[in-house]
Amino acid sequence: MPLDEIALEELGLAPRWVRKGVAAVAPQEAIAAAASVAVAVEAEVEVEVAAPPVVAREASAPAPLIEGAAPPKARAEDAFAPEDAPFVQPERVAPAKPAPAASEEPPAFTEDDFAWFDSVSEAVLPHDVEPARAPRNDVATLDWEPLAERVASCTLCRLCEKRTNTVFGVGDREAEWMVIGEAPGENEDRQGEPFVGQAGKLLDNMLRSLALARGENVYIANVIKCRPPGNRNPEPDEVARCEPYLQRQVALVKPKIIVAMGRFAAQSLLKTSNSIASLRGRVHEYEGVPVIVTYHPAYLLRSLQDKSKAWTDLCLARDTWRAAGGGQ
Ligand code: URA
Repeated sequence: MPLDEIALEELGLAPRWVRKGVAAVAPQEAIAAAASVAVAVEAEVEVEVAAPPVVAREASAPAPLIEGAAPPKARAEDAFAPEDAPFVQPERVAPAKPAPAASEEPPAFTEDDFAWFDSVSEAVLPHDVEPARAPRNDVATLDWEPLAERVASCTLCRLCEKRTNTVFGVGDREAEWMVIGEAPGENEDRQGEPFVGQAGKLLDNMLRSLALARGENVYIANVIKCRPPGNRNPEPDEVARCEPYLQRQVALVKPKIIVAMGRFAAQSLLKTSNSIASLRGRVHEYEGVPVIVTYHPAYLLRSLQDKSKAWTDLCLARDTWRAAGGGQ
C-alpha cells in the first residue's frame, strides 16, 4: 500500500477523506493534507487549541485543507486509530494509591503506563533534588557501543537490582526525530526495547502519521533506562543518575526535533514542574534541540478526547522540524 494511504488509514481518515486520485499525491503532501484534515476536525469539536507564547520560536500555521475534501465530520479521537478501534482495556491495575473522591476517580492504569503522572497534580520532581551521584563523567565522550555497554552494566542506582534488562533505546542513530518517554514498563524490561506494549503500538501509529517508523528517521529512548519496580515513580536521584546517558544519546543522534512523551518526560527534560497543559503548544529546548511536549501514548489510550490535542502537538513538531531544516 502506498505510504500516503497507509498514513491516512492510520489516521482513521482513509475511508472518508481519500479523494479519488489522492493516492497519486506525493507522500509528504498526503501527510500534510491528512494533518490539515485532523486540525480541521479539531476545530470542529472545539478542542482547546493552545496558543500560548512560544518560548524559542513559533511554528508555521498548519497546511491548508485538501482541496475538495469533504467537510470534517470525523471524531477528533480518530486521529490515530481506525474509526471502530475498540477502547483498549488496561492490562493490569497499578499499585494501590489512596482512593480519590468518586467524582475524581482516575482511569485504571496499564502495566506499561507511566503516564499517570499526567493526572496527578504536583508530584515530587526530579529537578527539585540535587543528584546524589552522577554516572562517570566520561559518559559524555562515549560512542554508541561503549555507551550501550555502560548502560547495560550500570549499577548507579537501586533500579539495577530488580531489572531484567536495561532499555537503552532503539532506532535510527542518525535520525532527525527523537522520541523520549519516561521509563520502561514490564514488557520493555522483559524485551529490552522501549514502547513495546499497547502504548508502543499507538506510538507507532503516531509516528506513521508523520511518515516515520520505528528505526526510520526516529530514535526512541526513555529518561530512565531501567524499570522502576511495580511501575512506581522514578525517584529524583534515579533520574539524575540516568540523565547523562540520555544527554549522550541526544548528542550522538543530533536530532532536529525531540518529542517528549508525557508529563514526566517533559518535566524531567525541561527541568520544570509546570503542568503538561502549560508545556504543550510551545517550542522548548533540551541540549540545544527543539522540544515539543505531548501526551504519553498510554494516557491517550484511556483519554481518547485528548488524541486530537496530541495530533496538534505532532503538527507543531513537524512544523518545528521543518523550520530546523528537517526533511531536506
Ligand atoms: N512508557 C514509556 O514512557 N516508555 C516505555 O518504554 C514504555 C512505556
